[in-house]
Amino acid sequence: MDQFKRSRLEWRQGFSVGISRIDDQHRGMIDALNEIGLAMEDGDTEGCDRLFGKFLDLSRDHFESEEKVLFASGYPKAQEHADYHRQLLAMAEKAREQCRQLMAANQMDECFNSLLEFLIGDLLEADIQFKSFLEEMDAANRSGLN
Ligand SMILES: [Fe+2]
Ligand SMILES: [Fe+2]
Repeated sequence: MDQFKRSRLEWRQGFSVGISRIDDQHRGMIDALNEIGLAMEDGDTEGCDRLFGKFLDLSRDHFESEEKVLFASGYPKAQEHADYHRQLLAMAEKAREQCRQLMAANQMDECFNSLLEFLIGDLLEADIQFKSFLEEMDAANRSGLN
């Protein structure tokens, strides 16, 4: 059977939404994802499951902070964005169950890819949309949100 070769997700400046707290949380989520990849490479299924839990906890905290910023800033799509977060979390919970089975069958890449999609869904598709909105707010308002 082929050994799992993880792909790593690296933080890039282009991911920055311009709010250090949010950027730090995104970095933390990327780190947690990469830790899961390492555990998969080691075939450590128990570790994977524990790290998956950590990833979900980080994501929940992150979504909460992000939603506070979005509602406080008057972002017109704040509710839509918050709904999308709920959808992502529901997907991830399901993926966690599937991953338990996939890991048992040594199909790590599928599990990893579903987590990658989760992160990309938030970071690159949804968050990038509020970035430009926040950039248009004046500096005084922005600093109040940091
Ligand atoms: Fe988001
Ligand atoms: Fe986000």
